[in-house]
Amino acid sequence: MEEQLETGLRGVPVGYCPTSYVDPQKGLFYAGKSVADLAFLDPVEVIYLLYAGKEGTAQEINAFRKSLRARARCPQEVLAAIRSLPRKGHPMQLFSIAILLLGMYESTGDYREDCLNLIGKLPQLTACVIAHHAGWKGGVPTEDGYSESFCQMLGVPEVAWEALVPMMKLFHVLHMDHGGGNLSTFVGKAVASGLEDLYGSIASAMCALAGPRHGRANQDCLEFVREMLQEVGEEATERDVEKAIRNRLADGKLIFGFGHAVLRVEDPRATVQYTFIQKNHPEHPLVKMALLLRSVGSKVLSENPKIADPHPNVDAVSGTMLSVGGFPFPEYYTLLFGMSRAVGIAIQIVYERLEARGGKGTPIIRPKYIYKPRVHD
Ligand code: MLT
Repeated sequence: MEEQLETGLRGVPVGYCPTSYVDPQKGLFYAGKSVADLAFLDPVEVIYLLYAGKEGTAQEINAFRKSLRARARCPQEVLAAIRSLPRKGHPMQLFSIAILLLGMYESTGDYREDCLNLIGKLPQLTACVIAHHAGWKGGVPTEDGYSESFCQMLGVPEVAWEALVPMMKLFHVLHMDHGGGNLSTFVGKAVASGLEDLYGSIASAMCALAGPRHGRANQDCLEFVREMLQEVGEEATERDVEKAIRNRLADGKLIFGFGHAVLRVEDPRATVQYTFIQKNHPEHPLVKMALLLRSVGSKVLSENPKIADPHPNVDAVSGTMLSVGGFPFPEYYTLLFGMSRAVGIAIQIVYERLEARGGKGTPIIRPKYIYKPRVHD
């Protein structure tokens, strides 16, 4: 037992997850399907897959799409309250508050209904938070698709919203779920186990996601790629990058975007994004740098036997993809992650509250800690 203490519960089984699982060698599977094979589906099809646990027929997807669209508008009071919030601090703070606000007006106390309502409203809620924080115009839900409507509501200045859609769709699909044990998902389910409603549980999950060891890593990774580019320049060779990485390590600095709690290969979600940026923006200096870091970073880190996983993870490249694709605003990257991940967490909460243990639901989370007095000199 002792070897399990103070390990962050790494690898300790604590429950069932009906939506997805992570294979250390093969990566992420949604309802038994490799995420690499789902990457270019429409997000609503993938939400349906996670929600229903099976692929939908065209009719089912259509009905589901309509149902989400009918739920897409946030109450005006919620939008006005978000727009009155301070624009200081990290946007994830605004996001958690926005989810709680939505719950004040919308919570029905029925986890399933609240799950679908929240998923339907996430695009407008997220866009409203970002537009308010950034000082952009924002917008209202349109009759277009889930990500299309979101990109329009963002109102990013000087960018045609259509240009953002393919990468936003890909980003949404890749980040929707990641098994049951990642920190934000675990926290959301733990809070719901006390019978807090769906909105409060998801707001707590988003606070968990906001930390730099979890969701905020994508923002830090882009800043790292930018820093490296500035340090070695656009003409840098593999050797230059290798030297810079070794210097950073010797100075005790972090190399961002490598390693994962479960994976022991390059994260397939990263692979899909590397292919996407290579295809769409091959000449962009950030893309060239991200690709150099991909190979050189793994090579250098794999020399250290203490590093269990020296491979790029999903965050290594998502910020580069968003940045070169027309959304160069790293402080909102964790929010985009949150908008996507809230989907999987909400669906997992529905399972734990309404379906698990023959409908009884899982008990309140209550692990045991061993008393250990502090040693004083
Ligand atoms: C991820 O998407 O990689 C995560 O949420 C991190 C994890 O699985 O622990």
